[in-house]
Amino acid sequence: MNHSSSIPQLQSAIHAALRAWHVTGGAPRDLLADLLLVQARRLTVTQDGSPATLRLATNQVLLESIGELETQDQTAARVLRARFIEKHKLMAVANQLNVSEHSVSRYQRAAIERLTDIIHGREQTLRQERGQRLETQLPPASYTRLFGLHEMRTKLETLLLGVKAPWVVALVGIGGIGKTALADAVTRQVIDHFAFAHIVWVRSEPQTMSGQSRSPQLMYEDFITTLDSRLWSDATEVRSFEQRLFQVRQALKQRPCLVVIDNLERETDTAYLLAHLNDLANPSKFLLTTRTRPVEQATVYTVNVDELSPADATALLRHHAQDIGIQAMDTATAADIENIYQVVGGNPLALKLVVSLLDLLPLSQVLSDLARSQPGPVEAMYKHIYWQTWHVLSPQARQLLQAMPLVAESGGLPAYLRALSGLSEAELWPALQELRHRSLLEVRGTLQEKRYGIHRLTETFLHTEIIHWPDSPAAS
Ligand SMILES: Nc1ncnc2c1ncn2[C@@H]1O[C@H](COP(=O)(O)OP(=O)(O)OP(=O)(O)O)[C@@H](O)[C@H]1O
Ligand SMILES: [Mg+2]
Repeated sequence: MNHSSSIPQLQSAIHAALRAWHVTGGAPRDLLADLLLVQARRLTVTQDGSPATLRLATNQVLLESIGELETQDQTAARVLRARFIEKHKLMAVANQLNVSEHSVSRYQRAAIERLTDIIHGREQTLRQERGQRLETQLPPASYTRLFGLHEMRTKLETLLLGVKAPWVVALVGIGGIGKTALADAVTRQVIDHFAFAHIVWVRSEPQTMSGQSRSPQLMYEDFITTLDSRLWSDATEVRSFEQRLFQVRQALKQRPCLVVIDNLERETDTAYLLAHLNDLANPSKFLLTTRTRPVEQATVYTVNVDELSPADATALLRHHAQDIGIQAMDTATAADIENIYQVVGGNPLALKLVVSLLDLLPLSQVLSDLARSQPGPVEAMYKHIYWQTWHVLSPQARQLLQAMPLVAESGGLPAYLRALSGLSEAELWPALQELRHRSLLEVRGTLQEKRYGIHRLTETFLHTEIIHWPDSPAAS
């Protein structure tokens, strides 16, 4: 059953599957191969993929559903069993039930209709559960609405859902442009199609906790370890890298999985990964977000993420202002907005940061201050915006923010942030809220367990401007 297929289509497929009960193998449609119910069952019967086991899985699903039908209507279940499993002729069934052949035909039609309802209901429940389970694999989204990425999302969805190359897709663009947000949105879209058995989202962590950078090979080994633990959650024994790689490859080759590797920053990491991923891909797919464009020779489909158009940037400004309750934007004129765009451009993170200043600072001051850094590289603009934001923070918020580079990429729990920053319980929450409000904190973790982290651009600012760690790679 495709995403879009209807009940009548399902009904005729179920009829065909019943008729093919004793046919070993058969066409995918006669096996109800599109149903998640059937796919899930295939994993529990011997996984040799032989025609006999494929038929077995389908028949088990049918049989269970006929069992459910029986609890509602014994005759209906009896007719189906007699006609399709025992292969009795219409006349024989009519004799058994002591009714006319015409009545048996009617019973049979009605029984298939009821069976379709049952299977459809079971399939919907399974899809819902599966969808929710896959979504819990993702970190929370950093946006409440995305602007200007509609075409790109559709294109990426088609690329990822196609059972063909490209197997590796990279979203490329400067920091803060929306690569992670786009990857998140597309992954959520793709989940609805159930083309992937697993979704794994991995944040790349170029540095160790102590701020030292890792070699690309070590980064790759860690990545394989993470994948191994996500794909084989029951694996507890200690394994060598080769064993892990073997396991990961096996899982990715067996069933299509989508692996997102987010926030690649260094050219060497991206190059190293790309040299190895194609061996793991097909039928699984990889989606990367990276600040550096892959080299020409790499087997990767590259999608550029560019600045938002003036119209989309305007929509983002107004929406974000509403989201965080900045009234000043309500009275902003088209000319004001044009001025912001002139200075900040269509850089989503910069736009969000600027909006969040407008409750304390007048727009003219923000812009005149920023304009002094123009024209220049986008990094310089971010540095200016961060300095402005830093100046308006309370001492507690600064204290918390300064501790944030010590938190792992996966984010920290509130108790840990309190310990790191030295803030009291009473000081922590206002400071957290303040940083959230200024777009300086991102929520990570899961729905059940919220963790907090900072965007990498914020981290770079803290390293280079505020903390001045001598060995910081970002400062070099
Ligand atoms: N098109 C958009 N509409 C609304 N919000 C957006 C859009 N693009 C990005 N954002 C928001 O802007 C911020 C920065 O985006 P994101 O983290 O995706 O950037 P990035 O390209 O991944 O940066 P980096 O290279 O540093 O990882 C996020 O808070 C994100 O939600
Ligand atoms: Mg990112």
